[in-house]
Amino acid sequence: MTSADNAQPLEECMEVAVRVARRAGQVIQEAVKHDKCVSTKSTAADLVTETDHQVEELIISTLRDKYPSHRFIGEESSAAGEKCFLTDSPTWIIDPIDGTCNFVHSFPMVAVSIGFAVKKELVFGVIYHCFDETLYTARKGHGAFCNGLRLQVSKEKDVSKALILTEIGAKRDPETLKIFSGNIEKLLKAHAHGIRVIGSSTLALCQVASGAADAYYQFGLHCWDIAAAAIIIREAGGSVVDTSDTPHPATDTM
Ligand code: IPD
Repeated sequence: MTSADNAQPLEECMEVAVRVARRAGQVIQEAVKHDKCVSTKSTAADLVTETDHQVEELIISTLRDKYPSHRFIGEESSAAGEKCFLTDSPTWIIDPIDGTCNFVHSFPMVAVSIGFAVKKELVFGVIYHCFDETLYTARKGHGAFCNGLRLQVSKEKDVSKALILTEIGAKRDPETLKIFSGNIEKLLKAHAHGIRVIGSSTLALCQVASGAADAYYQFGLHCWDIAAAAIIIREAGGSVVDTSDTPHPATDTM
């Protein structure tokens, strides 16, 4: 069996990830009922709440207690200035609340995302949809699952028969908006059946893994948005590509 470092088998790491993701989900479910303390990061649409920080701290401290030699990349730690680079060491890549804007508005598309990489390769991913308590998991070579049921991507290759997901991201400058609306227009002109924006890149990617959507694209995703989802999609038979052609330090997909 492959091991995460020489001590902990991957299966055990993944069980720990599932437990902490569920626990984080409970914190988020409770927090959504209360007033939120909201701040902005890179733009006025790039939101963060005290719950994002609290949940990231919960996840990282739980995992660090159990795996002190492992490394961590977290969305909010990175936003606070922590260096974000991948080494060969076992590394947890965490988005504590994916869909923070949804969370702020109590729009029920919010997930906890935990990816795990060893030697710069993604080996498992766990995504927990906090409001319908759906758990997506995948381990390299072992398939992808939603609440224990095997996932399979759609076989559709024709854009004119496809349901396509995308996300807007946080940028609102004229150039970004022009590209965003231009891409939507191209897909509509190609007669795509539909285009959806649900506000959580990880949950959108899980819809692709489950075959409910045929494709997803977005510019400007961070490694914590894609790490867990990338292995879930691949294990469901799909592909994840970086169209920018830029080799990414984190994995071949990020
Ligand atoms: C964001 C969401 C959003 C996507 C952004 C992500 P966050 O993650 O997934 O849908 O458009 O690119 O960064 O900030 O809610 O964790």
